[in-house]
Amino acid sequence: MGKNRKVAALAAGIVALALGSAQPGIGAPGAGLVEGRDWYSFGGTDNGGHYSALAQINDSNVSQLGLAWAYDIDTFDAYTAPLAVNGVIYFAVGHSVIHALDARTGKLLWQYDPKVAEAPEAGWRMRAGWGIRGIAYRDGMVFTATREGRLIAVDAKTGKLRWSVKTLDEPGSHGAYITGPPFVAGDKVVIGFGGADYSKVRGYVTAYDIKTGKRAWRWYVVPGNPAVDKDETTLEAAKTWTGEWWKFGGGGAVYQAMTYDAKYDRIYLGTGNGFPWNQKIRSPGGGDNLYLSSVVAIDMKTGKRAWHYQTNPENTWDFNNAMDIELTELTIDGQKRDVLLHAPKNGFYYVIDRATGKLLSAEKFAQVNWAERIDKETGRPVHNPEAFYKGKPFVLYPFPNGAHGVQAMAHSEQTGLTYIPVMEGGRVHTDPANIDTWQVRDGMFINSGLGVPPAGIVVPPSKSFLLAYDPVTQKKVWEIPQPGTFNGGVLATGGNLLFQGVNTGDFAAYNAKDGTKLWSFDAQNGILSAPISYTVNGKQYVTVIASFRASFANQPNWDYRQQKRRVLTFMLGGKARLPKFTRVEEPVLDDPAFAVDAQKVALGAGIYGTTCVVCHGGGVISGGAAPDLRKSQIPLDADAFNAVVRGGALMERGMGKFDNLSDAEIDGLRHYIRQRARETMPKK
Ligand code: HEC
Repeated sequence: MGKNRKVAALAAGIVALALGSAQPGIGAPGAGLVEGRDWYSFGGTDNGGHYSALAQINDSNVSQLGLAWAYDIDTFDAYTAPLAVNGVIYFAVGHSVIHALDARTGKLLWQYDPKVAEAPEAGWRMRAGWGIRGIAYRDGMVFTATREGRLIAVDAKTGKLRWSVKTLDEPGSHGAYITGPPFVAGDKVVIGFGGADYSKVRGYVTAYDIKTGKRAWRWYVVPGNPAVDKDETTLEAAKTWTGEWWKFGGGGAVYQAMTYDAKYDRIYLGTGNGFPWNQKIRSPGGGDNLYLSSVVAIDMKTGKRAWHYQTNPENTWDFNNAMDIELTELTIDGQKRDVLLHAPKNGFYYVIDRATGKLLSAEKFAQVNWAERIDKETGRPVHNPEAFYKGKPFVLYPFPNGAHGVQAMAHSEQTGLTYIPVMEGGRVHTDPANIDTWQVRDGMFINSGLGVPPAGIVVPPSKSFLLAYDPVTQKKVWEIPQPGTFNGGVLATGGNLLFQGVNTGDFAAYNAKDGTKLWSFDAQNGILSAPISYTVNGKQYVTVIASFRASFANQPNWDYRQQKRRVLTFMLGGKARLPKFTRVEEPVLDDPAFAVDAQKVALGAGIYGTTCVVCHGGGVISGGAAPDLRKSQIPLDADAFNAVVRGGALMERGMGKFDNLSDAEIDGLRHYIRQRARETMPKK
């Protein structure tokens, strides 16, 4: 937001507060909300910039920042960004259980539990490793989605249910689940879903009336079968697809990013990758495959497309646009423009004109080898032909985690810079041996359509850094190296500060202009979610949720059961302390009577690698997202193992129900887990 709009919005907020129940209008943040005081949407404001203009805590006094209070969260997953409205902190964790805390004390005011594990289809929709990442607030209501596909509105004062709708209700959304936040857009609330790495999913978003939950419109991301479907997308986009793509669903799930633009009354959608990733299977004759991997502007009144910009035509990778879409004004070539800023997985930083959807500029912000550059005239990438892995494997940069993932970037209105948690890594892409007869394996399996990487191709370890990037010059300003691969989202403030937590548990403040580290706190757990800042009675606070999960072991490695997931709130002069924590190393277990069978191990390893690995960790070494199965009694007991894995005995606690697995596959898993336990046991 430019200075004038910021002042105007602030004034509108104050007026709204003074009037008490003023109606939300275009450009105003909504009844009762105060821009600056409140952090009321995933990205803070409608602009989604993860920026707070507050400056009480600043680069000259941040050394006095201390813990005000900590709240222990009793759940399996708290990888989520909170909101703060009028002195209350709201967040949803685990099975989308909404919590309201007093922001001054951390005292629990109420909880709302949507009872996800009791829903009939919860078992198989719980397979993805990522819990709910954020919620929304407007007009005295808190909105959350649930993993198995409801959108829920709860009274912000009492925690009582206002309305609930099922948004995943079609056969086409069979393998879908929701992990992303809902987004408020004027008088509607919009929700998408994920799942297009696993099964036949056709992406769509649905808008609901904020007051009643009545469905307003639905927009499909990819075309259906033109012989049957007559929706806008099928009519417009089917000609950019080939073969019988609808048999695979096509993908395009909007699983995270959306941003509402009050000025144009549009919502921008960051659309997903194709399903399966490999285009030779999905759309064998090629084609742009609209509207995969695009930013699409949808008119909120009509639910129709206003414009689109596709970052990855002919997408045959896991590139998608689920990364933040942040709105601001920039002066480019002497001209003031309404722009959106977007740094998706594919490693290019895009500046797009919001009025028209025209690309203004795009440059690489990380290592990229799939394209040489983006042509400014056509807006299309100039591809590296080898990146299509035709007949020859290709080590693709960025890898499927993306140069930037769903961990939020921040755009500071003070420095004019964007701060991105960048990952740099490659991944071998190759066709599967059975490409001509490739079938979706229904159930709980990653179905990328890629082949097994041939032996002998060595991909260097990935790295990560925090990048300060200038969107006007499209140049790096500074970068600081960071530990491991996955690190937390970023908050920028008007105090010339950045706040960010990393996977080692270090929660730090940096000078936004030059990247100097000014302050840090040991959170005793890795951090992925983005911090927020807000005021209560005029006093500034910073809150972050510490909770970590990875699909592989980290340094230090977090223990699923021992590690505390916590809400941490900081203020100047805060004196609270976390209790001392020492991790106890638990032993890898074994049963000498268990005879490991190599053939069963091979079967089990295959299932594990596509179905269990996201949570229980590569090579059965947990990275903190779920218990370490080498150290668990349960796989040692066939009945207990069956009851948990196929019977869904631990669904309430975050472990899905894999009832599609056969007896042989269940047995194979036990053999594989035992083999890995023996291979990794410390030598006597
Ligand atoms: C979406 C994440 C996720 C996936 C995928 C997943 N699990 Fe789990 N699993 C969990 C969580 C979380 C728990 C811990 C539940 C609790 O706190 O009791 C768990 C617990 C377990 C346990 C009990 C361990 C113990 O000691 O209590 C077993 C056994 C298990 N999982 C096996 C599997 C197998 C086998 C697969 C693949 C077929 C699998 N899980 C896939 C998340 C997952």
